[in-house]
Amino acid sequence: MTTASLTLDGKTYELPVIRGTENEVAVDITRLRAQSGAITMDPGFNSTGACESAITFIDGDLGILRYRGYPIEELAERSDFVETCWLLLNGELPNAEQLKAFRAQLTYHSMIHEDMKKFFEGFPPSAHPMAILSAMVSSLSTYYPNSEEESTEVNIVRLIAKVRTIAAYAYKKSIGQPTIYPRNELSYCANFLNMMFAVPAEEYKINPVLVKALNMLLILHADHEQNCSTSTVRMVASSRANIFASISAGISALWGPLHGGANQAVLEMLQVIHEDGGDYKKFVMKAKEKDSGFRLMGFGHRVYKNFDPRATILRKMSYDVLQEMGIDDPLLEIACNLEKVALEDDYFVSRKLYPNVDFYSGILYRAMGIPTNMFTVMFAIGRLPGWLAHFKELRDDDSSRIYRPRQVYTGATQRSYIPMSERK
Ligand code: SDX
Repeated sequence: MTTASLTLDGKTYELPVIRGTENEVAVDITRLRAQSGAITMDPGFNSTGACESAITFIDGDLGILRYRGYPIEELAERSDFVETCWLLLNGELPNAEQLKAFRAQLTYHSMIHEDMKKFFEGFPPSAHPMAILSAMVSSLSTYYPNSEEESTEVNIVRLIAKVRTIAAYAYKKSIGQPTIYPRNELSYCANFLNMMFAVPAEEYKINPVLVKALNMLLILHADHEQNCSTSTVRMVASSRANIFASISAGISALWGPLHGGANQAVLEMLQVIHEDGGDYKKFVMKAKEKDSGFRLMGFGHRVYKNFDPRATILRKMSYDVLQEMGIDDPLLEIACNLEKVALEDDYFVSRKLYPNVDFYSGILYRAMGIPTNMFTVMFAIGRLPGWLAHFKELRDDDSSRIYRPRQVYTGATQRSYIPMSERK
């Protein structure tokens, strides 16, 4: 065990150094405050590790993303979303028997309690589906109240199985169509597409191109180590709140336009550029003006200082799927031009602002007929197994403690109460 030395006010403290399996190095400051009275400061947690984890490895400089050691490029090409869920949750690829049983469980648990459909009647038609999703997921705890006593495993299956149904019901509600029940003979992704787009009056023809594309999209979104929403899930889970409350909190964190809400913001930005005549260079210039408040959505990343490997896969997928579907989407043209111009501009290059996962995903969701306000819900469906794997990892770690960061107080020092008569 090597150590790091910190000298403060003339005193030197030896702090343990932790090394991960990919040679990442961390200085363990667990005892720093007890030893020195000092804490560290790192708003945004740019250089702060919250935990050790064996789920996902990212190398932001080399553009590497692996789930349990498997590169996402291989999983996206050769696996499917249900198998990747099992991998993230259990640490190993399933054998044929395990995978068959897991698929059957997800099918068995795909319905929501019929009474939950009444909740949808209370939402206005314009309700954002992320608001509905976080509310409905939290409400699942009222139907499975003993989530602590009941095994976490069955609640994990319930959530992965039911999140599709809740999302599709929210969409149907927003367009005033009747909800479509899950069908047991359909695969995970085909079932979701059917619940989204089938109508009682006619048979919905499931397009295998879209099923494969959806599997790849959900795999690429499945986990991303300690991002904002996953850290939120771990924060809430650390208080021993139930699994549904923890996941609902993650859904809310993902909603923000700087995080998972970016895919909706990217499409809206591309739409604005298109309707403004397609002059993408004007928007690149605007994104560089500090006080414009405008950012090129889908660009930049806290960890990737090179290409986001997911964006690389999604860019190619966008072309392939649109070609297969015979769709000529002008927004894809604008996206590629925007990317080209930005990556030649020193403002973006010097800040290492490359396209991230959200830059191309919306083009694909649009090609599937998924409305823009459902894009972040799609991100949540993909990220759910990652959130659940981190929930499990934290709960299985007997040494894990409630998350409770410290602060440096900068407010008023002690003063006495002023009676009203003496106030100005
Ligand atoms: C996701 O963490 C994860 O893993 C997230 C995610 C996952 O899978 O969970 O990968 C998913 O959330 C992807 C990111 C989606 N968000 C967006 O596309 C929104 C646009 N991008 C950003 O706002 C920003 O890049 C972040 C939020 C992604 C990263 O923010 P940071 O790391 O806090 O960086 P920063 O805001 O401090 O920016 C550094 C500099 C600043 O300029 P200076 O102060 O140095 O002059 O870069 C500029 C920023 O103004 N900048 C941008 C920009 N992103 C950063 N300028 C213009 N357009 C942008 N998109």
